[in-house]
Amino acid sequence: MLGRVKNRISRDGETQGRGDGEITIQRVHAPCLPVPRLPVSLYRPLVLTFRSMRRAIYPGSFDPVTNGHLDIIERGCKLFDEIIIGILVNPEKQPFFTIEERQDMLNDVLKDLSQGNCRLRVDSFRGLLVNYAIAQKADAIVRGIRAISDYEYELQMALMNRRLEPSIETVFMMPAETYSYVSSRLVKEVFQLNGAVSGLVPPLVEQRMKEKMQRP
Ligand code: PNS
Repeated sequence: MLGRVKNRISRDGETQGRGDGEITIQRVHAPCLPVPRLPVSLYRPLVLTFRSMRRAIYPGSFDPVTNGHLDIIERGCKLFDEIIIGILVNPEKQPFFTIEERQDMLNDVLKDLSQGNCRLRVDSFRGLLVNYAIAQKADAIVRGIRAISDYEYELQMALMNRRLEPSIETVFMMPAETYSYVSSRLVKEVFQLNGAVSGLVPPLVEQRMKEKMQRP
């Protein structure tokens, strides 16, 4: 604060102003408010209310959802306040599961996920991913990268998406090594050739795959 001031002693005892009528800068000290010591779990929701919400889209085919996908979602929950799992409706592909079946399975298996304070929502979309991300007011697109072979395709997509919409960042996440070779495509192939897929997909998904193929 600028002005003519006399010597003053502030609350914490600091002398301010020269007291000789010259212009001095006076720092006004706010009274110290007592800050209650609360457990983090109590004030975190309050902090989130006042901080801007971080929302991400995790897009994919999820035909079917694998344990690798779930691992990425769980990791994403540590970074984002909300993740929308966006299933691409692709009329050009002949899927194993319908969009509704995939959506149902995801909703079921997400119940067992350790998501902390992160909100999870399952949805489907058509057309350009960035348009969907804008419509959902998302800040980021999450993609999992398993091996270096994924990187080239993912980089191309990320750069194209950035060109289309520079405000949306792509965040690459690595799943646990256990899932570094797991893909929906391989799971389907192994299953259709009578191979075991337990441990690669949640038990509920394995069960639905058996039902679809009318297997005991
Ligand atoms: O699980 P997938 O099949 O690898 O997911 C691919 C997906 C859905 C992320 C990608 O195909 C996609 O974003 N499709 C939407 C159409 C689009 O935006 N295409 C331009 C990408 S640069």
